[in-house]
Amino acid sequence: MRLILDHTLVNLPIDKYRERVSLINQMINEKKGAGNDYLGWADYPLTYDKDEFNELIKTSKYIRENFDTLVVCGIGGSYLGARAALEALKGFYNKSDIEIIFIGQTFSPTYTKQVLSYLEKRNFAINVISKSGTTTETAIAFRLLRQLLENKVGKKKAKDSIFVTTDAKKGALKELSNKEGYKTFVLPSDVGGRFSVLTPVGLLPLSVAGVDIKSMMAGALKAREDILKTSLEKNDCYLYACMRDFLYRNNYSVELYAFYEPHFAMLGEWLKQLYGESEGKNKKGLFPGSVTFSTDLHSLGQFIQDGTPLLFETVIYVNEPLADITIPSDDDNFDGLNYLSAKPLSFVNMQAFKGTLVAHVNEGKVPNIVIEISHLDAFKMGYLFYFFMRSCAMSAYLLEVNPFNQPGVEVYKRNMFKLLGKKD
Ligand code: PA5
Repeated sequence: MRLILDHTLVNLPIDKYRERVSLINQMINEKKGAGNDYLGWADYPLTYDKDEFNELIKTSKYIRENFDTLVVCGIGGSYLGARAALEALKGFYNKSDIEIIFIGQTFSPTYTKQVLSYLEKRNFAINVISKSGTTTETAIAFRLLRQLLENKVGKKKAKDSIFVTTDAKKGALKELSNKEGYKTFVLPSDVGGRFSVLTPVGLLPLSVAGVDIKSMMAGALKAREDILKTSLEKNDCYLYACMRDFLYRNNYSVELYAFYEPHFAMLGEWLKQLYGESEGKNKKGLFPGSVTFSTDLHSLGQFIQDGTPLLFETVIYVNEPLADITIPSDDDNFDGLNYLSAKPLSFVNMQAFKGTLVAHVNEGKVPNIVIEISHLDAFKMGYLFYFFMRSCAMSAYLLEVNPFNQPGVEVYKRNMFKLLGKKD
């Protein structure tokens, strides 16, 4: 993985950042500073409970062997990471022996009803994920799922088909699990939702889907080592944090994550939550958006190229696609495409990336940060997750906000509960 800062149209004043970065890094290591109760993720790839990890792998095998579908029920940090990694590593329509379905991330009656109808004919297990155990979207979906399952297979069999990821001691879901005897996995109390993908929150669904989670944790550990031992000049993670901070202070207000594969779109969603919820407070922070090229070059591309100059792009480009296909030759050449015959589609995608980079940077004057990845596997996915979580913490502290709270999220809930007539 390589961070390329040659297309940012600015010179990062590294020396001006050096001391603050070093102090913040120390603060993260020593678990000091705002929100320090939620820094458990920083050492987690080193300190995680290996017995629980092995138990989780055993459980994932049991689920694979006994069900055709795993329904993952969660929202926000209890949902996005697993889905992002699953799609990034497997793509779409990738035949696997078990199907993973997500629910509980929406109040949409259409989505919820259609998923439940689909599940009527499936032999499914449930992994409900919620740290608080009280998140309304997740709780409603879980109630519906549980009823469906109990009606289908009976209460006893349902008990052995429900797996809960929640706090070790407290919360409604923990209490219910104790009462019903559901198997539980721990979402550590010092890890917040959007920093939890490398805990059982992400690991159980990913392991069920056949992802090598040992390798993923090894990747995260390697990222941690690289970050801790590298000076700022070569520290891609912290350089990235400094560059986005510098661009923000130079009047850019939007960071647009750009991918060239639709199966990375959910990674964009994970990044948007990570940075948006961590930094967007006290009327500060970059607004994180995401696009998939070349699709969005035919829609938002116009604005990026010529519109209000408020954004910079962070392009995450993976050189080796998960799958490739060759463009065939055609005797009639009606479409005039024979100049591309025998070329892999990855070649065309790569030229689209290179051409767009020049267009946006040289002509549009849109700064581009490029993160280049040779190919994506479980190890690199773990590396990437840790890289972004650590750079997000650095970036938020540079902005002088607490990365680990989300006071603004509570406001809609208060209003909604009032309208719903919820009693305290
Ligand atoms: O990052 C966060 O903390 C949030 O996005 C939460 O993950 C999300 O609100 C879900 O919360 P819970 O896991 O308590 O259901």
